[in-house]
Amino acid sequence: MNAALLIDASYFIAAFLFIYGLKRMSSPVTARSGIVVAGSGMVLAVLASFLYTLDVNPAAQPHLTTNISLAVIALVLGLGWAWRSGKKVAMTEMPQMVALYNGMGGGAAAAIAAIELIGYKTHGSISLTLAILGGVIGAVSLSGSLIAWAKLDGRISKTLRFSGLQAVNGSLLLILLALGAYMVSQGGAVAMTVFIAFFVVALIYGVMMTMPIGGADMPVVISLYNAFTGLAVGFEGYVLNNPALMIAGMVVGSAGSLLTLLMAKAMNRSVANVLFSNFGANGDEEQGEIAGSQKPVDAADAGINMRYASKVIIAPGYGLAVAQAQHKLYELVKLLQDAGVDVKFAIHPVAGRMPGHMNVLLAEAGVPYDIIFDMEDINAEFKEADVAIVIGANDTVNPAARSNKSSPIYGMPILNVDQAKQVYVVKRGQGKGYSGVENALFYADNTQMVYGDAQKVMVAMVQAIKSLGESH
Ligand code: TAP
Repeated sequence: MNAALLIDASYFIAAFLFIYGLKRMSSPVTARSGIVVAGSGMVLAVLASFLYTLDVNPAAQPHLTTNISLAVIALVLGLGWAWRSGKKVAMTEMPQMVALYNGMGGGAAAAIAAIELIGYKTHGSISLTLAILGGVIGAVSLSGSLIAWAKLDGRISKTLRFSGLQAVNGSLLLILLALGAYMVSQGGAVAMTVFIAFFVVALIYGVMMTMPIGGADMPVVISLYNAFTGLAVGFEGYVLNNPALMIAGMVVGSAGSLLTLLMAKAMNRSVANVLFSNFGANGDEEQGEIAGSQKPVDAADAGINMRYASKVIIAPGYGLAVAQAQHKLYELVKLLQDAGVDVKFAIHPVAGRMPGHMNVLLAEAGVPYDIIFDMEDINAEFKEADVAIVIGANDTVNPAARSNKSSPIYGMPILNVDQAKQVYVVKRGQGKGYSGVENALFYADNTQMVYGDAQKVMVAMVQAIKSLGESH
């Protein structure tokens, strides 16, 4: 079998594995195996790339050993770094990691474009246009993702805003378009300084586009850059005539676009609003006074009350992930179920800090999927619940989103926890949610606050219910 046929066959299988893996990721039951399947596709695609060495043109032969060695060194370094960082990353730092990996993907696409353009290897206006587009999108995605990572990681807290910002960004975009059009019109035969200027402006544009966006919107921005990276990789795949890159790029591009739209919809905002408004920056001034007071209750008392309820709905949020309280929570759920309580989980689409965050946490603790419900499937049931317990969630249960037109989160769909007969809110203190907005739920007549770290509160509730069993 010749090398070209072997490469094509490998890429075909790899593409199938990407798509089949993605399909399996759509359910928590099969997601883990989906990742393994798609990962195997990636390994196959990388290995197949080495088959190109069997059939290189004579001019490249003398460089073959050096080039293979460089590729192997890069692979080993990348693999080592990714393996180590992937093993030790905390669940709460996953968005930062996604941002970094995504930036690297964008950077790789930009690097391919740079090699193709600077080496004058791309010919024909379609290939040239796609190489240039892929280059600019990849470079924007690289610098933008790095800023997103730094913001999420708390390394940059500044939100750059000044009155002429949109004009500056508009001018940068025009410069990029003009340089790109010039390169295409010259058939790619332009001076090195033009290429350098093009990539530098693209990198600056990524920074300028991301710096004004507040930390609360970073997960949406990362998802958008993810879509950008996919697109850039797909374009460069066309330029290199590499079907595996094209398919992988398009899969990432479309999945990223859909995810971005879903996240924006779950917050009741447009993608443009995410990119161009400073969400939550002045939430306090805008939302107005909240009447009433927060009423504390003992964790043990709340636990015992739930033990005697007939229906309890749990609304988990980011604080559950911070406290790593999912295992203790499941222990509590099992105790309640043993006592005949009907227990269900209500999952808001943007609870936590990344899509599916809560589902992953609960799956890790072994919570069965049939008691986990999406917001739209369970929201009508809250009014029949004796108890709704909110664990480390805030914005996703804030009734101001429903009624307070002056609230920055007005219009965001929320879990109807306030409609339950009794609401318990587990959180450490008076801390606000991600959007920086105060929560009227905490002051409602039917709400009691269980102050403390979610894990410690779960332990106290479990103990209280167990001691009840012992005393009977
Ligand atoms: P948040 O609104 O972020 O609130 C989390 C709450 O958990 C805080 O009020 C905090 O209060 C509490 N908390 C923190 N550590 C805790 C601990 N160890 N034990 C107990 N409680 C703890 O959470 P949410 O309801 O999940 O909302 C998610 C937010 O992220 C939304 O604004 C959403 O728009 C945004 N967001 C999410 C995504 C995705 S895809 N999930 C994407 C973009 C944006 P204390 O400090 O008082 O404890």
